[in-house]
Amino acid sequence: MKCGFPPDFLWGSSISSYQTEGQNFTADWYRWEQTRNLMPAGDACRHYHLFDQDFALARSLSQKSIRLSLEWARICPENRTFSQKAIEHYRQVFSSLKRHNLIPLVTLHHFTNPAWFIEQGGWQSARNIDFFLKYVITAVKELGETIDYWIVFNEPLVYIYNGFIQGIWPPGVSSLRVAKGVYNNLLSAYITAYQEIKRIKPSSLVSIAKHVRVFDPCRYTGVGLTHLFAGLRSYFFNYRFLDACMKKNALDFLGVNYYCKEYVRPALSFFGKECRLAHHPERKNTLGWRVSAEGFLKILMCVYRRYTLPLIITENGTTETDDALYERYLIEHVTAMAKGLANKADIRGYFWWSLLDNFEWDKGYAHRFGLIEVDFDNFQRKIRPFARRYKQICEQNGIVS
Ligand code: BGC
Repeated sequence: MKCGFPPDFLWGSSISSYQTEGQNFTADWYRWEQTRNLMPAGDACRHYHLFDQDFALARSLSQKSIRLSLEWARICPENRTFSQKAIEHYRQVFSSLKRHNLIPLVTLHHFTNPAWFIEQGGWQSARNIDFFLKYVITAVKELGETIDYWIVFNEPLVYIYNGFIQGIWPPGVSSLRVAKGVYNNLLSAYITAYQEIKRIKPSSLVSIAKHVRVFDPCRYTGVGLTHLFAGLRSYFFNYRFLDACMKKNALDFLGVNYYCKEYVRPALSFFGKECRLAHHPERKNTLGWRVSAEGFLKILMCVYRRYTLPLIITENGTTETDDALYERYLIEHVTAMAKGLANKADIRGYFWWSLLDNFEWDKGYAHRFGLIEVDFDNFQRKIRPFARRYKQICEQNGIVS
């Protein structure tokens, strides 16, 4: 039996600039690593130099598309200075993708910023939104000719949560008040960026890559209130930002990043907190995330029914120590997507996170999400066995049983 994926379904994988390129010395994350005594990204995967080889590998795995990001800090290393060298580099990246017959989905902001932008107050100041818009306009004008899909922000809520509530990512702030201001600034930057991109090239398809998570109430703690906290967490984390973009007609499709399910228990904080008790049924991956393909189907149907926009799964993946677990995750999640399609959800693409093992932010290099294993001593690439299974799925346009 064959699942009903549309013939032009985009099968691919995702990467981001800071996590793979290496030596992004002008980015805020680089400065953060220096001051926090963290494992630095360093050379990352040396993808800055090895991009052509990496795209050839993706093509050899029968992928049709790659989602990648531009590094704002490279393109605009100093305030008001655009680097022609960096723009030329990304031109070469896009012509390599074209040569390998890979359709690009381009993210403009994947968590990192130029260091100078942060020195001027970063996303905390509404005045700074213009700096971002100038970069967006330059990138789209200089590089947009062959790009149809733009993703303005990757996971704005994850960025806000880690950088401005938890304070574990740059700029390391822990304040709900500041986080609210950043939220408003990112929203306003997104809506204006959407309008600018459409003005420059009306045929572009513009969205964000939204991290969504299934928040189920924990059955073992404080029954009555758990539903309320799970509902609040889900609304604020999954939907509020998207609702506001929809109100402004500023989404052409919806980029969905999905990894796991979370159980919520009551707490003093407004959103409750994650229940880490062992007795929930789902297994955990090496990061402790609860794997749930059922949750994937549930959230896909929820977002599709709420927005009735075409969906592209811009990230889905896991980190394991055993190849069989990667394969199981892949098969279960592709099957869930097929069920979503059978339930009439309009899903247009699927991107495994990630093409390559890469720099996992504050966790360094221990956790490996790649279809392709990277040896970080000599930068050799090695295709993981489960990637061959993904190749088959790409070739057969779904799972044939
Ligand atoms: C982010 C990636 C990250 C991945 C795994 C996603 O939320 O977009 O940058 O590497 O999760 O943690």
